Amino acid sequence: MSMNGGSGIDRRRVLGAAGVAACGVAALAACGGEAAGDRKVPGIQGKVIAKTADVPVGGGTVVKKYKMVVTQPSEGVYKAFGASCPHRGCAVSPPKDNVMVCPCHGSEFDADTGEATKGPATGRLIPYQVKVEGDGIVVV
Ligand code: FES
Repeated sequence: MSMNGGSGIDRRRVLGAAGVAACGVAALAACGGEAAGDRKVPGIQGKVIAKTADVPVGGGTVVKKYKMVVTQPSEGVYKAFGASCPHRGCAVSPPKDNVMVCPCHGSEFDADTGEATKGPATGRLIPYQVKVEGDGIVVV
């Protein structure tokens, strides 16, 4: 005679929570970017935000104090943008080969225009006008 040992079998009830996620695809997409994201840093005009020496051609620097990124897409041409990604607001990385990458979800931005070149972000980084004064880059 054989007896089956009493190895208890755990029965777990997995209650499947059937969350019905209604993903409404809104016809009126509010992700255009430009109008909604026009939040420039107040009181920054006239300020030196970076030194030209910190902004190599094809590269750039993120200025945490102002949440801005400064780029030099081509020799002698300096650009500045708000560093906040239009997707969820993470700060983009300094550009490499004129491409800024958002570390959160991988969006990419053109260092010359600030336009998103790869999603999930759409739209662009907020542009600022800058000029070179001496060895500094100044917001106009
Ligand atoms: Fe930048 Fe999502 S927050 S890609």
